[in-house]
Amino acid sequence: MTVPRHIAIIMDGNGRWARERGLPRVAGHQQGAESVRAVTEACSEMGVEFLTVYAFSTENWKRPKAETDALMVLLEHFIEQELPVLQKNNLRLRAIGRLRDLPQSCQDALDAAIKATAGNTSTTLILALSYSGRAEIIDAVRGLCEEAANGRIDPASVDEELFQRHLHTRDYPDPDLLIRTSGEMRLSNFLLWQLSYTEIFVTEKLWPDFGKEDLREAIAVFNQRERRFGAL
Ligand code: IPE
Ligand code: IPE
Ligand code: MG
Repeated sequence: MTVPRHIAIIMDGNGRWARERGLPRVAGHQQGAESVRAVTEACSEMGVEFLTVYAFSTENWKRPKAETDALMVLLEHFIEQELPVLQKNNLRLRAIGRLRDLPQSCQDALDAAIKATAGNTSTTLILALSYSGRAEIIDAVRGLCEEAANGRIDPASVDEELFQRHLHTRDYPDPDLLIRTSGEMRLSNFLLWQLSYTEIFVTEKLWPDFGKEDLREAIAVFNQRERRFGAL
């Protein structure tokens, strides 16, 4: 069985999970954090090199402040709580997105965990936070334009490789497998450039119900796909 080198996940359905149980939405997010832990562990056991999880989109800032506040508190707790687990399991933490949008205390916790785990060599867990695929592309274009204006690059030298090096994901290969939970058939502004040839697996399972077995199933389905990359 081929294990995908990079798995990306749109972790959706926390709110529905909570509603089904008559619980506040934040309870769904709390349970969703448990799924992140389980799936990260499974990735590390199976030898997946990179796991990118969509935890918060720039559009999610449009939600009621009570929910975004709760999510930021949860995020900070998650990072602090997970740090010893990440260390114990030799996992490396990274993040993509407009991280400056996050509360300062979240940024500090994130920076500390990223620094502390920088030398770890098992799976790299990449949190997409205040992330937008379009914003990432615009940031890259802006960077390239500035370099061209300063005479540091020749506009004619801009190709896919150079562009890629201006994305937040410059250090990672493109995802091989994209998983979306809760049945929605859309990208919701996730990794627009990077998902060009990624295999997509959508499950009706809600994110808080998604576990190691579900990950194994997604990888088994991935193994049945024939990736042609436009060729014959
Ligand atoms: C995904 O769950 C988590 C975030 C977007 C932060 P949702 O909160 O979108 O849950 P549903 O889609 O309302 O069920
Ligand atoms: C996508 O889920 C974003 C994250 C999982 C963080 P959403 O719930 O925000 O997406 P839409 O609104 O259904 O497209
Ligand atoms: Mg949703």
